[in-house]
This record gives sequence, C-alpha cells and structure tokens, in this order.
Amino acid sequence: MTFKDNFLWGGATAANQLEGAFDLDGKGLNVADMKTVGGRGKSRVFTPTLDLETYYPSHKAIDFYHHYKEDIAMFAEMGFKVFRLSINWSRIFPQGDELEPNEAGLAFYDKVFDECLKYGIEPLVTLSHFEIPLGLMEKYNGFLSRETIDHFVHYATTCFERYKNKVKYWITFNELNFGTMPHGELTVLGLHPKGAFPLDEIPSNEQNRFQALHHAMVASAKAIIKAKEINPNFEIGCMMAHITMYPLTSSPEDVLQTKEYDLLVNKFVSDVQVRGKYPALIEGYFKNKNIELDIPEEDLDILAKGTVDMYTFSYYMTICVTQQHGAPASMGNLVGGAANPYLESSEYGWQIDPIGLEYTLIDLYDRYEIPLFIVENGLGMEDEVAADGSINDDYRIAYFKAHFEAMNRAIEKGVDLIGYTSWGCIDLISAGTGEMRKRYGFIYVDMDNDGKGTLKRSKKKSFDWYKEVIASNGQKL
Ligand code: BG6
Repeated sequence: MTFKDNFLWGGATAANQLEGAFDLDGKGLNVADMKTVGGRGKSRVFTPTLDLETYYPSHKAIDFYHHYKEDIAMFAEMGFKVFRLSINWSRIFPQGDELEPNEAGLAFYDKVFDECLKYGIEPLVTLSHFEIPLGLMEKYNGFLSRETIDHFVHYATTCFERYKNKVKYWITFNELNFGTMPHGELTVLGLHPKGAFPLDEIPSNEQNRFQALHHAMVASAKAIIKAKEINPNFEIGCMMAHITMYPLTSSPEDVLQTKEYDLLVNKFVSDVQVRGKYPALIEGYFKNKNIELDIPEEDLDILAKGTVDMYTFSYYMTICVTQQHGAPASMGNLVGGAANPYLESSEYGWQIDPIGLEYTLIDLYDRYEIPLFIVENGLGMEDEVAADGSINDDYRIAYFKAHFEAMNRAIEKGVDLIGYTSWGCIDLISAGTGEMRKRYGFIYVDMDNDGKGTLKRSKKKSFDWYKEVIASNGQKL
C-alpha cells in the first residue's frame, strides 16, 4: 500500500450546512441563509427577504456552533489528521463591505481551531463556500462588480492575519468552476438570482456570468498573493467540482464534445488558478460566442502571480456526454448528463464510479503535476436507524472502500495525492436539496428535514471502519 506516512485523512464540511446560529453574535445574512428546503425533484428557492413562515435549513443546520467541542472530539476519536470547514464570511463581515471585522465572529473560529489543534487536527479552511454576504449581493450584484474583489481580499487578509499561526491549509473559493456551468447557480458568485430582485436587470447571460467569474478568480489570486506575504508556509488550493465526463459513444462527435465540455467545465478555472493564465481555447470560446470580458492588464499580472500550491477538488460521480437525443439521463453534483450503462446509481441518481476517480487523478496529475488533495467525496443516502439504535451503512463502507482502492492504484502509478476529506463527515444539510435526510456522515445527527429532532450525535457502522482505515494509513479497508 502506498499512502504517504503523513497522508491527511479527515472529513469536510461547510459553515452554512453545519453551524446554524445564523443570527447570533453579530452575524449577517449570507446568500445560503435565503434558501428554502427542497427535495428530490423539488428545487430550493432563493427568497430575497426572509419569510417568517418558511423553514430555512442553514439557520439551525446541525448547530455545530454550540456542539463543536463534542463534534471535534468525535473526529479526533476517528483519528482525523485534518478537518475541512469554512469560515462564514458574514460572521466576520456581516454586510461584506465593513472596514472593521466582527470580533465575536473571529473569536468563534479561534475556539474551533484551538479545539482542533488540541487533538493534533489540522484545520483546512475554505474562505467562501457558497456563503457570500447578502449585503454584497444586494449592493454590488456580487462579483459582477469589481468592488467585490477588494471586499473579499479584505476579508481573506483579516482571516490570514488572525489565524496565521493556527491554520496552514486554505482554499479561497469552493467549486469556483460552478460559474462555467451553463445552468450554474448564480448565487454562488453573489449574482442576483432570476426574479429575486424584480427591479434590477437580471444578469443571467453568459457575458455577465463569466465577467463575475473573472472577478472572483482575480479576488482569489489577490488573496493568495497577500497570504504568502503573511505566511509563506501557507498551503493554498483551488477547489473544483470535478465533473468527470466520458463520451457516451465512440462517435467522433461525442468524443469531440466531451473534450470541449471538459475544458470549459473542469479545466478552465483550474488552468487559471494553477497555471496563472486563461487557456488559449477559452479565449477562442469567448470569441465565438461574442463574449467580451473587461480584463485590465493588471488582472493578468495578478492571475500570473497568485497561483495555488495544490489542486484541491471534489469528486462524487461521473457523467456521459453525447449528441444523441433522448439518451437516458443521469443526475449529478451541480450538473447531470447522459447515463453510463456500465455504472450503478445511488438513490439520488448519482452514478457511482471509483475507476472514474482513478482516471481523474491520473488526468489531473498528468496536466498539472502539483500535489492533489480530494477535499470532498462520499455517498448521500437516507440512512435507517435500526430498533437497537444502530445505523448499518454498509453501502457507504463499500463506496469508500472502492474509492480508496482507486486512490491507491493512482498513487502506485505516480500520482502525488496528499490528502482526503470525505464530504459531510458528520450528517449535515444537503447543499443541493437543503434536506437533512440526504446523509453522508460517519456520525448520525438526529434531525429531520423540518429541523425537528434532538440533534443527538451517534456513530454509524462506518465510524469504526474509517477509524481503522486512518489508523492503518489506508491499509485496512
Ligand atoms: C459539493 C458542495 O458540490 O457537493 C457541498 O461543495 C455539497 O457543499 C456536496 O453538500 C454534496 O452535494 P449535496 O447536494 O448532496 O449536498
């Protein structure tokens, strides 16, 4: 077996899906706080103001805000080397554009990081995980405005300064390539969602989406430049939602379309963040679509200097691409595609593909040759609690086992993989559906889709299994 001695095993979360306490200690609203609960086949709705009759899952989430000690102790019991979490931007800058940070917000994360470090767990911190302050959406239309770049950099710099001796591993934006997806969720970039602000022009066209994405990439690069001045030992990653794709058939049309779609969705943003410049073919894509971005010369310099140290990404499933009409569809994380006849699907319709992870690791390392870190992967299912209180999630163990074997094979082939954090190591709110019952954790949280339950934490069968995996550094699967 080949995992490095210091391989970073752990778990991943995001503030808006975990913390709750949405209005405590001076926190402002963020865009995730405005989303209602959905379900399978039912979209979440963004409401521009809070409706008192409606349940918003992020408001309570699993109340990590008051349970962090207990939760981190359970992560430590599993032997975590790393815990990925995000800082809730609007806890630090409630509106997003203040000059002075909210001390109570900063103090909360001091306590959380101290608790991790007490057990020798390295925090891996995402600065923006779908949590842009609502104030920046309302006032600036999010990253469509250049001003938002500096608000992000001010926030990032505040965090780097404050936590420079506690946090080594950072991610600027979660899944920034979301902005390239044709049906991308615009609130991630803080853009006004369609219909939410009826008096405004709705910037749902590609021109505006790519302009906002450009600003976010500049914000990320600027923050990285600052970070390295504050602490040269920081390790900073990009974060891509890697939607691995195959041609559905060997028809040259399907193969060509897959290549082009992969460049747009998977490679474009990471090329900018790893290599420091726009890929030539994306410039061609923009030209053909009459997209003309406003990119001042200084931005190119910032992008060239503010590159990442590691390629950090999520991987859940794969999709197929085809020109054929009427091919059976599959669901996916952020985007779906055509269904792969060789793969099984989870109950949420995501196709399970461990070999796809091996393929992805090889493909990425071949392109970038920098350390890779899987910061999200896992299986969302409706777990059943048995009469004796046990939760026998053998399907989750099987999913992880197959993916860890795939990681191992990729490492044996020469891939430099430095860490792995499973998504939702403790059950939390689903980003896609807002549900509680789509569970990923090793730790079960007693709460239902309406926020009812005791919030009691209990171990699933996979808890002890993952503990063994970590203790044996991936040898006992
Ligand atoms: C990733 C996000 O895209 O997928 C997470 O970074 C999200 O925030 C995860 O929770 C799983 O998706 P879902 O919709 O099952 O929660």
